[in-house]
Amino acid sequence: MGEGLQYDTLTGTSIIDAAKWLHEGEVIGLPTETVYGLAGNALNATAVARIFEVKQRPSFNPLIVHVGSVEQAGEYAQLNPIASKLMEVFWPGPLTLLLKKKPVVPDLVTAGSDYVGIRMPNHPLTLELLRTLPFPLAAPSANPFMYVSPTNAKHVVQQLGGKIPYILDGGPSRVGLESTIIGFNPDGKAVLYRAGGLAVEELESIIGPVIIPGGKNEAPLAAPGQLKRHYATNKPMLPITEAPNSWYQEPTSIAFLGFDIVPAKVNALGISAHLLAPNGSLSTAATHLFEVMRQLDDNQAVKRIIVGSFPKTGLGRAINDRLQRAYNKGPAVTQDLLFQ
Ligand code: TXA
Ligand code: MG
Repeated sequence: MGEGLQYDTLTGTSIIDAAKWLHEGEVIGLPTETVYGLAGNALNATAVARIFEVKQRPSFNPLIVHVGSVEQAGEYAQLNPIASKLMEVFWPGPLTLLLKKKPVVPDLVTAGSDYVGIRMPNHPLTLELLRTLPFPLAAPSANPFMYVSPTNAKHVVQQLGGKIPYILDGGPSRVGLESTIIGFNPDGKAVLYRAGGLAVEELESIIGPVIIPGGKNEAPLAAPGQLKRHYATNKPMLPITEAPNSWYQEPTSIAFLGFDIVPAKVNALGISAHLLAPNGSLSTAATHLFEVMRQLDDNQAVKRIIVGSFPKTGLGRAINDRLQRAYNKGPAVTQDLLFQ
């Protein structure tokens, strides 16, 4: 399969067509409750290599393996009691677990690590597909490397159309943020690797305190793929508190992205305001975040994006994390992100 491979990308709801392409070692777009994935047979190194090629992602970045049941997870990873408990409570759902991998998982999937990220997504079409396939699916989010993740089939067509044969259309992603990633330290304690669509507080209500690296008394975690700049719009985006005065010389070219309230300054300057959740619900804000970032990026009238503040707890942790990575500050890739 060569670099310039071109397809007539079809979008549809056929599990049979999706399965046919996957059996042939091709990669397809597919829905999950978090974001759309770019999926291929996780046990076929050629299909996995094709994922990296289509996504233009460096291959030091490991991929999550998607399964249709807890039993299937046990075929590819060594479970531990806390992981099993979390699977029982939160699967299918927006939770990825980092577990010791079994030898059948190709090294390319885990970027050479002994640990594999594994999750059971909660989307009816994809669950049915996973249950008909004799192999699990490796799937990163279906966006080109560094761009905002897709939350509907149209986003995938816009960015990967022509590069993949099929997109399984399962409607808009309900959660809208990537899965929360949990690993375990040598003492078996749960560690947060990526804030995501399942709030830490919910995990803690089942297993007690989760270690949050970078928090008080904790060194920052060197997790692969956690680029400081990521999920970024092409247009400059900054918190309203950090936007330079020069930006305000042309208020009509600015868009404000906020949670539930429009600040007085935005109103006074006649800046167009886009609230993610006028109802004050963090889950509503999460569902719409990437969609609205894309709309503003595609809107010709908008040149710059300023962002309001979001609550720091619950899903607000992941929303703030994605916004921080989207701000166009500093180098896109720095040495400390590289996987050791
Ligand atoms: O919600 C999601 O998790 C979506 C949907 C499609 O399932 N997938 C997703 O995949 O967000 P991706 O590849 O865009 O982000 C996965 C991140 C990687 O960047 C990496 O940080 C971490 O998961 N990861 C995956 N496997 C890992 C491993 N073996 N060790 C450490 N980190 C891993
Ligand atoms: Mg991603």
